Amino acid sequence: MNAPTSPAGGWLGNAIQRIEADYLRSADTHLIPLRLPAFAEAGIDLYLKDESTHPTGSLKHRLARSLFLYALCNGWIHEGTTVVEASSGSTAVSEAYFARLLGLPFIAVMPRSTSPEKVAQIAFHGGSCHFVERAGEVYAEAQALAERSGGHYMDQFTYAERATDWRGNNNIAESMFQQMARERHPVPGWIVVGAGTGGTSATIGRYLRFRCHDTQLAVVDPEGSVFAAYHASGDATLGAPGSRIEGIGRPRVEPSFVRTLVERMIEVPNVDSVAAMRALLGLLGRKVGPSTGTNFVGMLQLAHEMRAAGRQGSILSLLCDAGERYLPSYHDAEWVQQAFGDCGEAERRIAAQLA
Ligand SMILES: Cc1ncc(COP(=O)(O)O)c(C=O)c1O
Repeated sequence: MNAPTSPAGGWLGNAIQRIEADYLRSADTHLIPLRLPAFAEAGIDLYLKDESTHPTGSLKHRLARSLFLYALCNGWIHEGTTVVEASSGSTAVSEAYFARLLGLPFIAVMPRSTSPEKVAQIAFHGGSCHFVERAGEVYAEAQALAERSGGHYMDQFTYAERATDWRGNNNIAESMFQQMARERHPVPGWIVVGAGTGGTSATIGRYLRFRCHDTQLAVVDPEGSVFAAYHASGDATLGAPGSRIEGIGRPRVEPSFVRTLVERMIEVPNVDSVAAMRALLGLLGRKVGPSTGTNFVGMLQLAHEMRAAGRQGSILSLLCDAGERYLPSYHDAEWVQQAFGDCGEAERRIAAQLA
């Protein structure tokens, strides 16, 4: 282990400077209002925060920046350190970008089923991929690989909720509230997100409390994920078969998922996630990733409940990544038919919910 060096002139200082310079070159992401006249007439507005416009194409760009700064400032990463991560793809794409910015080797440990687009993007940013057969194997394999190479296991699942500044510093929640300032319902009634590490929901949940906002936090959970059962029981030893919506839902309770911050869990069938993903193509004019479809199902459910109760307000969620990453999978009708069966009935139900 290298002796701690003062940040000032050395490699560490230079590394932090590079990340901060990259941050300065980056613009914040847009907040897009969804045109849904049936809800607008009832005083209910829906918005998506478009995280697909980050340089690495997903919400994970923010997390990767925070994880690198956290590891650098903890003295865990030094000149030449190999960085290893266990990721279903989005985080690895973003971490590969920052590793290259610092001139560090990067290895992503992921299930062999991860979309080829994400594998190609990790390679595009200079990273390499190490495959395991089952999603549950990524943690131990990443740890072992880091030990074998004398590198550092970034471990997003443990540190996501710690590395992100939940009090502000332009975190995703602060950005949302700033962008809502001139809307007719500037303080959302609900914010809806999915959970992979749980870091995004933890950051938003803490920020809402820190700023004493009346906004409630709902987490959508896909089939096969453990989070909804854990939220209900508090039993962190629970397991589950695993999610088939890339990026969200987990086979085990992740340390960064903070259940006490979540007011509501919404369980979403896979066919509904795909149907909602397809419906967003009609509303936005472009393809989104499957986890954004899952978010949209939660938004629509809450919008209906608000309208039925005569409540007005706004509902915010995330456009987590673009659909172009999933052309051979979730945006391929044959692949979807194979994976989830017929989505026709779900599409009709979602279409009816938009009216
Ligand atoms: C596409 C996508 N959506 C949503 C999430 C969930 O984010 P978090 O890990 O902050 O819970 C992820 C996480 O990997 C993701 O890749």
